[in-house]
Amino acid sequence: MNKIKLADLKHLDKQDPLSKYREEFFLPKNTIYFDGNSLGPVPTKTIKNLNKTINEEWGKDLINSWNKANWINLPQTLGDKIAPLLGAKSGEVVVVDSTSLNLFKVLTSALRLNKNRKKVVSESTNFPSDLYILEGVNGMLNNHYECQLIDDDINFEKYIDSSTAVVMLSHINYKTGRISDMKKITDYAHQQGALVVWDLSHSVGVIPMDLHNIGVDFAVGCTYKHLNGGPGAPGFLYVHSDLIEIVSQPLSGWLGHSDPFAFETKYTPANNINKFICGTPSILSYKAVESALDIFDEISLEQVREKSIQLSELFIKLIQQECGDFGFELFSPIDAAHRGSQISYKHENAYPIMQSLISRGIIGDYREPNILRFGISPLYMRHEDVWSAIICLKNIMQSNEWDSSNFKIRNYVT
Ligand SMILES: Cc1ncc(COP(=O)(O)O)c(C=O)c1O
Repeated sequence: MNKIKLADLKHLDKQDPLSKYREEFFLPKNTIYFDGNSLGPVPTKTIKNLNKTINEEWGKDLINSWNKANWINLPQTLGDKIAPLLGAKSGEVVVVDSTSLNLFKVLTSALRLNKNRKKVVSESTNFPSDLYILEGVNGMLNNHYECQLIDDDINFEKYIDSSTAVVMLSHINYKTGRISDMKKITDYAHQQGALVVWDLSHSVGVIPMDLHNIGVDFAVGCTYKHLNGGPGAPGFLYVHSDLIEIVSQPLSGWLGHSDPFAFETKYTPANNINKFICGTPSILSYKAVESALDIFDEISLEQVREKSIQLSELFIKLIQQECGDFGFELFSPIDAAHRGSQISYKHENAYPIMQSLISRGIIGDYREPNILRFGISPLYMRHEDVWSAIICLKNIMQSNEWDSSNFKIRNYVT
C-alpha cells in the first residue's frame, strides 16, 4: 500500500466539486467536526433566516405571519423540500413533531392497517427510542404483539412471515453505520403481507433513496443530523401516497383536522399528509430547517455519497497507517457499499480517548459500551481534515494524553 501523504490530500480537496459548500456553514476555528451525524453545524443562511423571522415576521407582523409569511404551511412546504432527498413524491412527507413521536404515530397507523397479525419485527441494535416506542405502543394495545428483535438483519427472512404485521428497522444503524438493504427487506416484507416502517435519521442527506418506487409504506427521520436543521429541530414523516387516504393516526390534534379553523367538536382528519400533524408547529425551529434545506436544492446526492465513501475509506486507511498499533478495532462494515456516512471503532479506552480528541477540537462522540463514532459530512469536510484528525489521534495515543483523570469524568450527554 502506498503511503498516504498530506500533499496528495490537499490536491484532492482542490479538485472536490463539493468544496464550495463548506462556506455555507459556520464552522468554529480550530475545530474539525465529526459529529454531523448527531447535530449538524449552523448553516450561515440560518443565522440570517432566524434574524429575519424574529425581527420582521414575528417582530413586526406578529400573528399576521401565520398567513402572510405562510408559517401555517411550513410542515408541508418543508416536507416537499425533503421529499426529493428520500425519493418521495410531493405530498408524501411532512415535517412535524420529533422522530420518536412520528414513529409512535406511523407504527400505530401501520398496526391499525394490519390488525389481524400478531408480530412486529425489529432489530435489537435499533436506536433505543425506536424500541421504547414499540414497547409503549404494544403496552397501549395490551401487549397484543410479539415483538421479535433480531440480532442482525442478514437473515431477516427467517423472522418475517405471515404472522408479521410490521417490520420496523433503521436504514443506517446508529452505532455501526451499517446500511440495511431497504429494497430487499421491503420486498420480502410485502410478499409476506407485512408493512414496513424505516427510520432514516442517519441516511437522509448523505445517501440517495427511492422510497416511493420501492413502495416503502412509512418512514421517519431527524432533520438535525445531516440536514443541519438545528438542535431539537422537528422530525419528518413519510407515508406512501397509496396509504395516505386510508390510514389513521392516534394523535388527533386540531391541526390534523380537515378544517382546523372551523373549530368543530368532532375530529375529522385531513385527507392528505396533514392528518399526521397534531399541534402548532414551532416556527423558529422550522425556519432553521428551511434555510438548512435550501443548501440541498442544487446538490447531487450521488456526489455527496461518492465523497462520503472517499473520506470514509481515507479515514480507515489512515487509521491503519498511523494508528495501527493502538488497538482500534473497526466496528463499521469494511465494505463501503454497506457502510453509511460514519465510522465506528471499538477501543477499551474509547471514552477518555474521545474526550481527549474533543479537547483538541476534533469532535466526534462516544456510544456505549466502548465505541468511538466519527460522522462523515461531505458538505463541509475536507480530506485534509481527516488527515489532521488522525495525526491528532496518533499524538494522543503516543503521549498517553487520553489517560488523564479529567477525560474519564462522564458527561451526561456522551
Ligand atoms: C436513529 C434514530 N432514531 C430516532 C432518534 C430519536 O430522535 P428524537 O429524539 O428527535 O425523537 C434518534 C436520535 O438521535 C436516532 O438517531
